[in-house]
Amino acid sequence: MALAQKLLLVLCQVGLVLSQDVPYEELLAQIQACPKECTCPQNFPRAVYCDNKGLTSIPRIPPFTRYLYLQNNMIESLPANVLENATQLHWVNLSGNKIKNEGIGEGVLGALTRLVHLYMDDNLLSSVPSPLPASLEHLRLSRNRISKIPTGVFAGLDKLNLLDLQGNKLMDDSVTEVSLKGLNNLVQINLAKNQLSRMPLGLPPTTTQLFLDGNNIEKIPADYFKGLPKVAFLRLNHNKLGSSGVPNDVFNISSILDLQLSHNQLTEVPIIPSGLEHLHLDHNKITSVNGANICPVSADSLGDSVNESSPRLRYLRLDGNGINPPIPRDVLVCFGLLRSIVI
Ligand SMILES: *[C@@H]1O[C@H](CO)[C@@H](O)[C@H](O)[C@H]1NC(C)=O
Ligand SMILES: *[C@@H]1O[C@H](CO)[C@@H](O)[C@H](O)[C@H]1NC(C)=O
Ligand SMILES: *[C@@H]1O[C@H](CO)[C@@H](O)[C@H](O)[C@H]1NC(C)=O
Ligand SMILES: *[C@@H]1O[C@H](CO)[C@@H](O)[C@H](O)[C@H]1NC(C)=O
Repeated sequence: MALAQKLLLVLCQVGLVLSQDVPYEELLAQIQACPKECTCPQNFPRAVYCDNKGLTSIPRIPPFTRYLYLQNNMIESLPANVLENATQLHWVNLSGNKIKNEGIGEGVLGALTRLVHLYMDDNLLSSVPSPLPASLEHLRLSRNRISKIPTGVFAGLDKLNLLDLQGNKLMDDSVTEVSLKGLNNLVQINLAKNQLSRMPLGLPPTTTQLFLDGNNIEKIPADYFKGLPKVAFLRLNHNKLGSSGVPNDVFNISSILDLQLSHNQLTEVPIIPSGLEHLHLDHNKITSVNGANICPVSADSLGDSVNESSPRLRYLRLDGNGINPPIPRDVLVCFGLLRSIVI
């Protein structure tokens, strides 16, 4: 069967399910240009699947591709012109390849001016690639070998709300006051499993979720969260925090909902705000819990029934500390909404 006939057949079969936003000419161009190594689903014509194919280089990408799946191959480089025609790209998944910074051609990422999601987890990057397009909203670079954030790399990345840098080699001097400059709308930053010994500097005030598990952080400056008025999810599990390095009221932040401090060396329960819903303090060195001390509201303001001003704590983990049951009654009296406590 001639190609044109084959295409016609395909078009008839899928004509009804095609989304209206794909003009006929574009659809035709897409199907004709589908690389032989890849799959281009007829009912999702803007997606090109080239994942898990053992590819060592990037094939010619059809011009109207929006979603490009290249994960889990052996791609080592992104030559300068390789994506020159793929100007419509919104999503690119390049996770699980062998890309080094030296393999990224000049301007190849910056030229993708519609790119919204870029996934490059599990590659061999040693620094955050640059330049990046200002359209990016999600950037995932976990489990590379990143030890450097080049100055100015995030300048103009006003739309970026998620930055995942976990499992890299970032040290204190790689996350400075200026490193994250430009990320004016960042919501989630993941710096877990790096080599930080202090809290990272220069986080944008929009930060809501801060993940720092598995570093070597020993202390938190008293005013650290003053510049982070929106922080709601804070994870510091598996660090080296002792009570002497944690100012007693440092976590008494009204925005916080979920505080995770498991596997540290705390000897005392820190002061918590009334709005906190989840608290993980398991596997520390806390030997006793005094309800009167940890209760965020005074005993007189605790009525018989729960109302809006009652502490919000619903989940509390204290196991792995050597605290003997039973759970002190004053803890239960204070936290009337507590649904689960592990001791
Ligand atoms: C881009 O399109 C031009 C014109 O069709 C073609 O010559 C060139 O090889 C294409 N480049 C890539 C990388 O596909
Ligand atoms: C990208 O590929 C990785 C590796 O297979 C996968 O875990 C991840 O879910 C993919 N992400 C998206 C958004 O497709
Ligand atoms: C915690 O913060 C609240 C609100 O800012 C304040 O009223 C309260 O006194 C603080 N608690 C302690 C024990 O410092
Ligand atoms: C909640 O209950 C406490 C104690 O009964 C009371 O003092 C407080 O005024 C109540 N708050 C509201 C908003 O009803």
